Amino acid sequence: MAKMCVAIAAVLAVTALLQTSAAQTVHVVGDSLGWLVPPGGPIAYETWVDLQTFVVGDVLVFNFTTGEQDVARVTKEAFNSCNSTNPIFLETTGPFNYTLDAAGEYYFIGTMDRHCYLGQKLAINVSASAGPTPSPQAPTPTPPRGPVTYIVGDALGWLVPPGGSIAYKTWAYGKTFLVGDVLVFNFANGTQDVAVVTEEAYDSCNTTTTIAVYATSPVKYTLAAVGEYFFTSTYSRHCNLGQKLAINVTASSSATPPSTTTTPTPSSNPSSSVTSPVAGGPSAPPPQSSAPARAVLGFSSTLLLIALAVVH
Ligand SMILES: *[C@@H]1O[C@H](CO)[C@@H](O)[C@H](O)[C@H]1NC(C)=O
Ligand SMILES: *[C@@H]1O[C@H](CO)[C@@H](O)[C@H](O)[C@H]1NC(C)=O
Ligand SMILES: *[C@@H]1O[C@H](CO)[C@@H](O)[C@H](O)[C@H]1NC(C)=O
Ligand SMILES: *[C@@H]1O[C@H](CO)[C@@H](O)[C@H](O)[C@H]1NC(C)=O
Ligand SMILES: *[C@@H]1O[C@H](CO)[C@@H](O)[C@H](O)[C@H]1NC(C)=O
Ligand SMILES: *[C@@H]1O[C@H](CO)[C@@H](O)[C@H](O)[C@H]1NC(C)=O
Ligand SMILES: *[C@@H]1O[C@H](CO)[C@@H](O)[C@H](O)[C@H]1NC(C)=O
Repeated sequence: MAKMCVAIAAVLAVTALLQTSAAQTVHVVGDSLGWLVPPGGPIAYETWVDLQTFVVGDVLVFNFTTGEQDVARVTKEAFNSCNSTNPIFLETTGPFNYTLDAAGEYYFIGTMDRHCYLGQKLAINVSASAGPTPSPQAPTPTPPRGPVTYIVGDALGWLVPPGGSIAYKTWAYGKTFLVGDVLVFNFANGTQDVAVVTEEAYDSCNTTTTIAVYATSPVKYTLAAVGEYFFTSTYSRHCNLGQKLAINVTASSSATPPSTTTTPTPSSNPSSSVTSPVAGGPSAPPPQSSAPARAVLGFSSTLLLIALAVVH
C-alpha cells in the first residue's frame, strides 16, 4: 500500500529519497482516486501533481476502467482548450502505464464526453535527473501567528471520504500546523470516531491498539507538541477506505511558547496511552472565536462536491 504523503514535509522527504536513489518511481495518477472526472474539478489532479516529483524514467499509471475513461497525450494548446481532435496518442484500455522517457512538459486529458472540461486533465513537468532540483515548496520562515483552528475536511467533515484518502491529503496539503493549533473533527455521533494512532497502525490500518479514541463530536484536538500526528477511525474498514489523516506539526506558534518540548509525540511513544492530548496542550485552548479557519476554506467546495458527486 502506498504510504500517504503529507504536505510540504512529505514533498521534501520524497525529494530526498529520490536524490539518493536512481530507481524509477511509479506514480499512480490521483492515487486511490484513479483517473476519472474528479469530483470537484481539476484541483484534485493539480494537488496530486504538487505532491510528486517526476524524473525521466518514472512511470505514470493511469488507473481507469476501459470503456468509461480513456487517456490522451496532447499538446499544451489542446490541453488548455480541451481539444482532443489530434492527440499525440490515445489509449482506450485501462489501466495504462506510461513511461516518462524525456524531460519536459507532458499534458494528458480524457477525451470522452466533457471529461476534460470537467477536470480530467493532468499537466506535469519531468526533470532530467533526480539532481538537487529545488523544491517549489522550499521551507520559508514561518511568519508569526496565533493558534489556528482547523476544521478537518472543512465542509466534508470527518467520515469515509468518497474517492479515498486523497480527500484528507488534499485538505492537509499546504497547511501549516503549529503547536497550539486545534483540529476540529465534525461527525455524526455514533457513525464515526477519531483514533489517534502510531504511524505503524496508520499505515497498516490496524487499530487494535490506539493512543486515544474520541467518540463524541465535535472532537477538538490540540496539537500539543512538534512531530507527526496520525488520525484514523476504529470503525470497521473506515481506515482502509481512506478515513485517515497524517499531519506534521513543525514548530511552535509565536503565541504559544514551546513549554512542552519534552513531551513525546504520539508516534515516538506509542505506549503512552495515558496521555490526554485534548486537555494536555501547552496552554489553555485558544479561544474558538479568534483566528478560526480563515485560511482553510479553500477546499470546502471541492470536498463538498466530492461528497455530493459520489454519493449515489
Ligand atoms: C516534520 O517536520 C519537521 C520540521 O520541518 C521535519 O524536521 C521532519 O522531518 C518532518 N517529518 C517528516 C516525516 O517529514
Ligand atoms: C486501480 O483501481 C482499482 C479499483 O479502484 C483498485 O482496486 C486498484 O488497486 C487500483 N490500482 C492501483 C495500481 O492503484
Ligand atoms: C482542434 O485542433 C485541431 C488541430 O489539431 C484544429 O484543426 C481544430 O480547429 C481545433 N478545434 C478547436 C475548436 O479549436
Ligand atoms: C503497470 O505498473 C504497475 C505498477 O508498477 C504494475 O503493477 C503493472 O503490472 C504494470 N502494468 C503493465 C501493463 O505493465
Ligand atoms: C514547468 O516548469 C516551467 C519552469 O519552471 C514552468 O514555466 C511551466 O509552467 C511548468 N509547466 C507545468 C506543466 O507545470
Ligand atoms: C494489530 O496490532 C496488534 C498490536 O497492537 C497485534 O497484536 C496484532 O497482531 C495486529 N494485527 C494484525 C492483523 O496485524
Ligand atoms: C454528540 O453528543 C454530545 C453529547 O451527547 C452532544 O453534546 C453533541 O452535540 C453531539 N454532537 C452531534 C454532532 O450531534
